[in-house]
Amino acid sequence: MKTLDDASRTKRLDSQGMLGVLDGYVDGFLQAYRAASHARLAAPAGLGNVLICGMGGSGIGGNLVAGLIRPECPVPLTILKDYQVPGAVGPKSLVIAVSYSGNTEETLTVALEARARGATLVGVSSGGQLMKLAKERGSAYLPVEAGFAPRAALPHLFGTLLGAANALRLATLAPDAGLASHLRRVHAGLKPDVPERSNPAKQWARELHVRLPVWYGAGPLAPVALRARCQLNENAKMISRNDELPEANHNELVAWNSVKRGGGYFVGLLRQPDEPKEIARRFEFVETVLARRKVPRRTFTATAPTPLGRVLETLLFVDYVSVYAAFLRGVDPTPVDVIGALKDVLGKSGRAPEIRKRLR
Ligand code: F6R
Repeated sequence: MKTLDDASRTKRLDSQGMLGVLDGYVDGFLQAYRAASHARLAAPAGLGNVLICGMGGSGIGGNLVAGLIRPECPVPLTILKDYQVPGAVGPKSLVIAVSYSGNTEETLTVALEARARGATLVGVSSGGQLMKLAKERGSAYLPVEAGFAPRAALPHLFGTLLGAANALRLATLAPDAGLASHLRRVHAGLKPDVPERSNPAKQWARELHVRLPVWYGAGPLAPVALRARCQLNENAKMISRNDELPEANHNELVAWNSVKRGGGYFVGLLRQPDEPKEIARRFEFVETVLARRKVPRRTFTATAPTPLGRVLETLLFVDYVSVYAAFLRGVDPTPVDVIGALKDVLGKSGRAPEIRKRLR
């Protein structure tokens, strides 16, 4: 049986230090939040709607912020992961374009089109063409610390976006005084030097790395289920799926109810202690069905006292699970060469030449 407690083995596999990056999670988020919340940003007068666009590891920052601020955001908020700008985007729109590299063509296409329609643009990146576009054309720009794989920069991207949402008066949600110490305590229990017998992230990884993991969250934890899936895709190089409650109770539940002897799946339920009663009842019902169909499953219930703390705590947990799953599968968590190969192909054709022309 492969061990997760042998530091020399994990070090050999982790050639670019994905585990080490997780050490900076809490500070990275808080520093980015502080910087962005003090930025001088302004929404257009008579703000009509907000669009946050970004792909993959960058785009998830938008989902996380939307999941938290939607209940208080005074205007409609859309998350876009595509080339096509919605018809509602115009001079009264605020468009936040997020691309860690600054060179992702879907995000650049939307940023250019948003500007052409007279929308107010805020660029978020660690450089690249998005920085050039924002700076040279008088749009607001928020830099994010460079040097990470895009998905590993999530704490920075998420902190930047949440800080920007506050600076733009779309939200009032801010880290509370106890957040950092709570997260550091949780973090200490997930680190590689904590042996598998008492490390829940290692235990989850052991159970799911040979199955098809399916993640469920509700409300602000729904985007964390998406993050869990994407981290398993990219870090552990394995197929994983996610969905959210209550929606999945109206379709996927039927499929679970037909699974035979577990069906090769693993289900990760991401919950909050104070979730609404109707959501709690739904999770309990799903668990009953999964138990009947003998599907291996585990529940993670964050303990932080605020929704923001619970989102960060659950993010940290699933990120560790994904890196440990990579080690159990014998793969290096960092490289995602095939994404780069596709970007190279598209860089020579697709939208890239047109984007380059419009950016000149
Ligand atoms: C790579 C990763 C990818 C990228 C995506 C978009 O670590 O997570 O999902 O985030 O290809 O690229 P960026 O983030 O540079 O806009």
